[in-house]
Amino acid sequence: MTAALPPDAIAAPLRPFLKWAGGKTRLLPRILPYVPESFENYHEPFLGGGAMFWAIRERINGTAHLHDLNEILISVWQRVQQDPSGLHQALAWYMERDSKEFYYEQRTAAPETLLGQAARFIYLNQTAWNGLWRVNKHGIFNVPWGDRPFRGIDEDTLHRLSDALIGASITTNDFRDTLAKPQAGDFVYLDPPYLPISDTSKFYLYTEKRFRAPDLVGLADLCHDLTDRGVHWLMSNRDTEQVRDLFPNNHIVRFTTRRSVAAQNRRDVEALDSPEALIVGGPVT
Ligand SMILES: C[S@@+](CC[C@H](N)C(=O)[O-])C[C@H]1O[C@@H](n2cnc3c(N)ncnc32)[C@H](O)[C@@H]1O
Repeated sequence: MTAALPPDAIAAPLRPFLKWAGGKTRLLPRILPYVPESFENYHEPFLGGGAMFWAIRERINGTAHLHDLNEILISVWQRVQQDPSGLHQALAWYMERDSKEFYYEQRTAAPETLLGQAARFIYLNQTAWNGLWRVNKHGIFNVPWGDRPFRGIDEDTLHRLSDALIGASITTNDFRDTLAKPQAGDFVYLDPPYLPISDTSKFYLYTEKRFRAPDLVGLADLCHDLTDRGVHWLMSNRDTEQVRDLFPNNHIVRFTTRRSVAAQNRRDVEALDSPEALIVGGPVT
């Protein structure tokens, strides 16, 4: 953990403090041109590491509403927002003990305090294989050790992240609740879990509750309601016929990206071409 920046230093842009499967940092250059320059409130129902929020937070004039169904993820965001110093101290405890044995102890540990739980989450997120949070169907974290040192988050960055979150509403919500709130003049970015390509292909479990085809259909209906209410929105998804059929009247930007997936031997990752769709919604201007 490093000392505070000198007063005349230019601070690095803020970025996600967690590595999150499906995180959009690398795709931002393709997506940002479609985000309005300025808007009232911002709503992100599938927050994850919040790559979009960190990139566009200066365009928000009103309140940021940041939500996800994953309770522990949201609790970590809340600790960053409310207690950066306490979190920094809790992370230092993990830094001093970091080792392979300690990792496996922590995988099954259950700290009692919210701060302890958040620090454990960040520790596992940085040191797990491929830096991932993945649970089994019982909600138990089950990723093997990644053989990488724990770097924590430096104190200055934690305070800058916390300052940037002042006034933000950060709670655990299902997307159906989040999407009831946006009003004309607001902007919504939606990045739901992608449906598996086939019934037999692997899918990514962020929470015990799986995101299925009926969820996507319900989500599309809610997006059409947003348009009817005059709300601008953008959705990232996989470019499939099923997705395109759900948005017959929307402009869809299609492109290909390289996606990392686990290789057979589990220690490596392979890069695959993946077709992406960016669905543009809201009132026509
Ligand atoms: C593709 S990730 C979002 C990644 C994010 N855009 C980023 O840059 O890190 C999808 C997120 O949706 C969340 N999620 C899954 N089902 C949900 C639901 N029913 N309501 C709200 N969030 C949900 C998952 O916990 C996961 O964090």
